[in-house]
Amino acid sequence: MIVGGGTGVRMPTAATPARTAARSVDPRLERIRTAWDPALLDRATSIAIERLGHHLRSTRVAGVALERPSDLLAEAGALMGPGDPEPDLERLVRIVDLHLRTAIALPSTGSLARQFTSVLPVAGAVDLLTAMAPQPATFYEAGQLPNVADKLIGADLGALVGWAPGTFTMVSTSGGALANLTAILAARNLRDPGAWSDGLQARGPQARRLAIAVGEDAHYSVTRVAGITGLGEATIVLLPVDTQRRIDIRRARAALDAAAAAGLDVFCIVASAGSTPTGAIDPLTELAALAHERGAWFHVDGAHAGSFIVSHALRPRLAGIELADSFCLDAHKTLFVPAACTLLFYRDPDAADAAFSQAASYVFDDPADEMTAFESGGRNFECTKRPSILPLWVAWSLHGRAIFADRLDHLVARTAEVAALIDAQPDFVLVTAPDANIVCFEHLPGARSDADLAALQVAIRDRLRAEGRFLISKVDLGERSVLRLVVMHHEVGTETILALMDEIRRVARSIGEEAA
Ligand SMILES: Cc1ncc(COP(=O)(O)O)c(C=O)c1O
Repeated sequence: MIVGGGTGVRMPTAATPARTAARSVDPRLERIRTAWDPALLDRATSIAIERLGHHLRSTRVAGVALERPSDLLAEAGALMGPGDPEPDLERLVRIVDLHLRTAIALPSTGSLARQFTSVLPVAGAVDLLTAMAPQPATFYEAGQLPNVADKLIGADLGALVGWAPGTFTMVSTSGGALANLTAILAARNLRDPGAWSDGLQARGPQARRLAIAVGEDAHYSVTRVAGITGLGEATIVLLPVDTQRRIDIRRARAALDAAAAAGLDVFCIVASAGSTPTGAIDPLTELAALAHERGAWFHVDGAHAGSFIVSHALRPRLAGIELADSFCLDAHKTLFVPAACTLLFYRDPDAADAAFSQAASYVFDDPADEMTAFESGGRNFECTKRPSILPLWVAWSLHGRAIFADRLDHLVARTAEVAALIDAQPDFVLVTAPDANIVCFEHLPGARSDADLAALQVAIRDRLRAEGRFLISKVDLGERSVLRLVVMHHEVGTETILALMDEIRRVARSIGEEAA
């Protein structure tokens, strides 16, 4: 031990004598050893894997078995305690069953509501590996392979954007919301280098207020950034969308002119590819030109469809993404790996350093050495971060790009068929032609007021969800509430949608009868 002597000189104290006294067995240590016995992993995972196998192989059409929160609270509460270092694995069986019973039935074609799907089995296996051999991915020393995997995946996918090797960078984050925050922070700090240290107040009352411009259908994580960063949600410049719910360039230009006239300094324009409500992909080439003409950063929130870069057939839908200053894609949505795994790309690698700037001697070495220069810690919000890049990297390495492209091509083609089928029905209205694998529509059984029609769609969603066979979602588009399908399962086909439409007609009839 080293102690200060008051002289400015540090002296070692005498070494502590080795503790060699014999000890009786410490019961606490025994309990700890029992709970950490690796044999428990074998027993617990066999229980989980056996039950998961049934769940994944089930051919039942199902959505979700939705329980009332108070009932589930009681049921789950009854499964708690008394605890034991040698756990009661019978109780684990019941907990696994409860989870699978109440989970959205992702392996089923009845699950049509959400932007996630059952994951690639090899990716799931690697996720377990990373849970049991946890290596926080932010710092090289603690996450060597994750940091290397970041570089390899970044290089492969960035090349698909069309960027030359070594000219760009990728930072992985735990989710699209964090990626959007990180990219917009980088843009803000580049526009106002004093903002990080001195705050926005230091700009003074005469300075133009910094603002973000986003499409009307942008994800809430984008507009949330304005609140988090102190820009204020009221400063958000909403860019109007056209009838296909893509940003309308002509009206966007007018909205930006009006914002400038009102004293706002729009430092970042955010496009969606595709948007959460409808999957619409904004006109990226035109928006990139508009952003750069106005001196603004161009960020593409590609959480949903940014992964289309892996497919030759779908890449043209993202034309212009190569012009983005930054863009993200959620691998846990459309590259089918466990959540949360998001890739945030920067066209200029140095820009990635602009998001955060801090000294923390316990993790950051100054000057950086070969290893700390390699890691992502300084470019990432998170400190402890799951190495969720590893399941993606392993699946990408073992299966190759083609399996991802095949599934995306297939899902998007099926979605187009689904949309055509819906469009062909006299009592269904297709809202937009899908750009991705999301379809929005209304069921219109006879003439009704707009308000009745909106209420009916929500009631249909609720009724179907309660019955448990199909889980679909609803979204508000302006004044309309519409039904929404996300085609994430490769077995969804014409039969699924015909059966769904029959169910929708049936529940709409009974809702009408009950109201009459
Ligand atoms: C377009 C879009 N952006 C961002 C997000 C947020 O991503 P995450 O849930 O990975 O944080 C979502 C999630 O659905 C999304 O659809």
